[in-house]
Amino acid sequence: MGSTLGRLFRVTTFGESHGVGLGAVVENIPAGLALGEEDIQIELDRRKPGQSRISTPRKEDDRVTILSGVFEGRTIGSPVAMVVYNENAREKDYSDFSDVYRPSHADYTYHVRYGHRTYRGGGRASARSTIGVVAAGAIARKLLRELAGVKIAAYVSSVHKIIAPDYLSLGADAIREKAESNDVRVPSAELAESMARSIQDARQSGDSLGGTISLLVENLPAGIGDPVFDRLDALLAQAMMAIPATKGIEIGSGFAGSEMTGFDHNDEFYMEDGKIRTRTNRSGGIQGGISNGEPITMRIAFKPTATISREQKSVNEKGEEVKLSVRGRHDPCVLPRAVPIVEAMAAIVLADQYLISQTARIDRIKDQP
Ligand SMILES: Cc1cc2nc3c(=O)[nH]c(=O)nc-3n(C[C@H](O)[C@H](O)[C@H](O)COP(=O)(O)O)c2cc1C
Repeated sequence: MGSTLGRLFRVTTFGESHGVGLGAVVENIPAGLALGEEDIQIELDRRKPGQSRISTPRKEDDRVTILSGVFEGRTIGSPVAMVVYNENAREKDYSDFSDVYRPSHADYTYHVRYGHRTYRGGGRASARSTIGVVAAGAIARKLLRELAGVKIAAYVSSVHKIIAPDYLSLGADAIREKAESNDVRVPSAELAESMARSIQDARQSGDSLGGTISLLVENLPAGIGDPVFDRLDALLAQAMMAIPATKGIEIGSGFAGSEMTGFDHNDEFYMEDGKIRTRTNRSGGIQGGISNGEPITMRIAFKPTATISREQKSVNEKGEEVKLSVRGRHDPCVLPRAVPIVEAMAAIVLADQYLISQTARIDRIKDQP
């Protein structure tokens, strides 16, 4: 259970960090989409470990192979299966806690649920399980861009107590360009330096840091999303909370909106070139669970990495209270590597909902008055 996302653009991910490989199978991609391994690799390279001084030193190339669904550089309408083979699993990295439950990781709950646990790398709870998400997201992103000109960009908007200003007004292209020019993925070289320093300090003291990621989606047409359980905001929230280490989500004004009055908070409508628009976007582009044509804006909170080398108290599988300090190769802050994962999750949900809106929703006679 739990490995499939989407109804029409359906993504099933597979694989664990200790196993042979990981990847995804994506169903119902329209035929004719130009697609090559390089389209997927570009996103996987943004996610892979060992990219910089502030990520895990675990080195993985994470080279993708497309196994099916593409012929002569175009999708053919059948499932696209993609795999990345594991290369650098080091058993030694996990021997410190092979029978101890890491505080705030998934060790204890997976053991309760399955009766055994794959302590080498955390099994499906490992962030390596997001390889399939990023691979599928690369296809979703390409599809959305080609069908509707949709652009998706995310950036690190805070690390611990260092909070970046709101960069959403830069627009998706500039956010991507500026955020990709430094290893923190914040659209400011200055902030990147101070954030990187605080991440390195945390790592040096055997600790870790959390933070937030902001997301912008441009050009999604109005009218995408369905009522009640398939509200677009509900689907996006579910997808974001499916990323390991997420602890909170905001859409539009989010928690700050709860401190405003209705008059101050409402997004007034106006007409621009024959199109209905809103002057502000506190709704984050979604009203009543349906896109209103304004940019989708979200913020996602990530906790500090659970695995740290500072000594902590825990319990082992025998129920004995023990002390634990983990020496393995871990991310002192997951934020920079989570940026492409956030974008991929958004792309998968939006590609699914976009295709549903175009093909599968016969709930209205089109020329109805
Ligand atoms: C990109 C990324 C990298 C991560 N790297 C690590 C890591 O090196 N060590 C670790 O303990 N957790 C890491 N995590 C988080 C764990 O996978 C996550 O905390 C764990 O599965 C438990 O799930 P929960 O935090 O959502 O409860 C990472 C998460 C992401 C998104």
